[in-house]
Amino acid sequence: MSPCCWLALLALVSPTLATNPGVKLKLTEKAIEYGKQIGIATLQQKLKTIQIPDIAGTEKVSPIGKVKYSLTEMKIVNLGLPKSDLTLVPGTGISLSITNAFINLHGNWRVRYLHVIKDSGSFDLAVSGLTVTDSLSILSDETGRPTVRGVNCEAIVGSASVKFHGGASWLYNLFSSFIDKALRSAMQKQICPLVADAINDMNQHLKTLNVLAKVDNHAEIEYSMVTPPSISKSSIDLNLKGEFYNIGKHQEPPFSPTPFSLPPQINNMLYIGVSAFTANTAGFVYNNAGVLGLRITDDMIPPSSPIRLNTRTLGTFVPEISKRFPGLMVELLVQTVKEPTISFQPNNVTVQASCTMTAYAVQTNSTLTPLFILNMEGSVSARLFVAGVMLAGAITLNKFEITLGTSYVGPFQVQSLDNIFRIVLKDVVIPQINVRLEKGFPLPTIGKMELINTELQVLKGYMLIGTDVKFT
Ligand SMILES: *[C@@H]1O[C@H](CO)[C@@H](O)[C@H](O)[C@H]1NC(C)=O
Ligand SMILES: *[C@@H]1O[C@H](CO)[C@@H](O)[C@H](O)[C@H]1NC(C)=O
Repeated sequence: MSPCCWLALLALVSPTLATNPGVKLKLTEKAIEYGKQIGIATLQQKLKTIQIPDIAGTEKVSPIGKVKYSLTEMKIVNLGLPKSDLTLVPGTGISLSITNAFINLHGNWRVRYLHVIKDSGSFDLAVSGLTVTDSLSILSDETGRPTVRGVNCEAIVGSASVKFHGGASWLYNLFSSFIDKALRSAMQKQICPLVADAINDMNQHLKTLNVLAKVDNHAEIEYSMVTPPSISKSSIDLNLKGEFYNIGKHQEPPFSPTPFSLPPQINNMLYIGVSAFTANTAGFVYNNAGVLGLRITDDMIPPSSPIRLNTRTLGTFVPEISKRFPGLMVELLVQTVKEPTISFQPNNVTVQASCTMTAYAVQTNSTLTPLFILNMEGSVSARLFVAGVMLAGAITLNKFEITLGTSYVGPFQVQSLDNIFRIVLKDVVIPQINVRLEKGFPLPTIGKMELINTELQVLKGYMLIGTDVKFT
């Protein structure tokens, strides 16, 4: 191969190799156990639908001669799967093993011989020592959702014992010779297709993973898998993209995910690691959407507040303002100048934002006349929590620093306005942001999934949600 082909090949391969996940999921043995309960209950229902075809024929029995017989209306009356196991097979998948299963059937028998003699009755059949094994591999489907495939199903029916009701004893010998074989093969043939059917049901469920979760009118989060699932002795680990995008416009941010690994915790069924990368893509997307701005008018300031947004208040600190624009209301426009930066340190979520704050005098004809533009560097602390299947938050102001950008009213000491802007930030801007954060952002979920016993920890570079899961 020529060097240029190698380069082309590398170009094709490297983006996949370079894809680090923004979100990681870990399913522990506790989740496998819960999944097993649901899966086995499903399989049990499926196996109850096994159809046993009627058996009929003619057999020569000495000294009677030809005997016509039929076994009909065989129905499963009981089915038990007392011992079933789902075991993780590192690097491969899950092994399913059902042993000592049993099935009880009830049916009717009928015979005719010597041309005129008819006899009939019922019978009970107990099938025991039923074994079903399968190897399940877990893959990523074309949409980036996990999917399960059964690759090696085997069903063995141990033994069957028949108990006839009514009829002569020679009949029993006639039947039991072939009844055992006929039924065993009829059952064996049906079990693996029913296992495949149960796996298919599970895949329908997995297909509900919200690989593209709508957040609001501006943003969606992509939760597709970026690598195939990895299976260890005690967990299944999924690497998800975990990236916010503007709806319908998937532009990559100028930063990429940092590799991280989840701690070996096992108390909960599910662990979700959400990286700072994911949080930062939210900032990138909302900043691009132009929605990280806020117009602040006096009616947004609580009535109890010591300050009002008018030229008289600002004039106390910058006399030029009240002199040139007496008796007017003031409006502020806060806008981010770039995406905010979110960092996760142990027990500490900090958001840094660079904004401009423009103050306008509102003329009596509603024209806005700019007074000054300030540059503001702010830092807030965020508290994150899980509400339902949403990740929500609330922020509080840490500190901020303002410098003068442009003044249209001559030079002035910016620091004298600190208090006013602290009140504006605390009483107006932050509560508005919190209204949005409180609504939350969708976590990766499957079907009607409920999160219980949920805990959230903030660690270096990511936050960890440990939770149990209930399907309703
Ligand atoms: C939280 O982290 C930021 C930097 O990311 C740091 O400036 C701040 O002091 C930390 N706060 C606490 C309470 O540790
Ligand atoms: C509005 O009023 C201001 C101040 O009196 C004036 O400078 C401006 O031209 C007026 N604008 C319009 C559109 O009338």
